[in-house]
Amino acid sequence: MDIKNALIVGAGHGIGLGLVQSLLEQFPNSQIFATYRDEKRASELLKTSAHSKYIDPSVEEDLLEYFKTLPELDLVICTIGALQKPEKSLRDISIEQLSEAFKVNAAIPMLICKHAKPRLNKTSENYLIFLSAMVGSIGDNQVGGWYGYRAAKSALNQLIKTASIEYSRAGYKTKLGVIHPGTTETELSKAFLGNVKHRVWTPIESAQNILKVIGDLKSTGEFKNWDGTTIPW
Ligand SMILES: NC(=O)c1ccc[n+]([C@@H]2O[C@H](COP(=O)([O-])OP(=O)(O)OC[C@H]3O[C@@H](n4cnc5c(N)ncnc54)[C@H](OP(=O)(O)O)[C@@H]3O)[C@@H](O)[C@H]2O)c1
Repeated sequence: MDIKNALIVGAGHGIGLGLVQSLLEQFPNSQIFATYRDEKRASELLKTSAHSKYIDPSVEEDLLEYFKTLPELDLVICTIGALQKPEKSLRDISIEQLSEAFKVNAAIPMLICKHAKPRLNKTSENYLIFLSAMVGSIGDNQVGGWYGYRAAKSALNQLIKTASIEYSRAGYKTKLGVIHPGTTETELSKAFLGNVKHRVWTPIESAQNILKVIGDLKSTGEFKNWDGTTIPW
């Protein structure tokens, strides 16, 4: 994988920030563009040499204008996702919480998928990647719970798989993919790490794993684990 211009959407902290830092280290001559929403939590990002920009990605007109300012991109990674208080039981289900989970984890990333297209060269190798989660695998669902986050990540997977078919039919060589980063110590996960028995990555380690998986992608429309193995839909 050779990167001249990359964009990380959702780079203010967590894995997104790790991705910016790893890309700057691995590709020192590249331009790394990065968006954030919360300026206070993005202080570390603002100290890097990335081209950082405040964007609320749910405002489609702003997103459209922002993408117009970018050069042709070799790599776009959308990290946007949120896990509010997860529903453990049917008792916890509400239309408000389900709607919010789908908005943040599926609908907003899909706007990135839509507006990145004009910045991706049809004939050269490039990547359009979304951070998903293992719990979004319907085939792997053994334990239930976490209704909204789980189902919203499944929806993201289906949306990106569908978009990968549209990109291919339009003649794009772009590899679209959804990747489970593995459990990583971030704001999103910190409340849930107490009982975790397996390895927990730092954001930088997680970013390095993700970049390796992307570089090894053989085809478009795949759901990959942090170690490069394929996850069942
Ligand atoms: N950490 C893990 O163990 C783990 C495991 C599996 C999957 N993932 C996935 O990995 C991705 C990155 O997560 P992370 O662990 O790095 O968590 P994080 O530090 O909380 O980052 C989440 C990102 O999503 C953005 N975001 C959250 N709510 C948003 C909203 N309503 N509108 C727009 N942007 C919003 C945040 O931006 P602002 O803060 O600037 O608003 C931030 O950039 C997520 O998609 C998550 O589901 C993480």
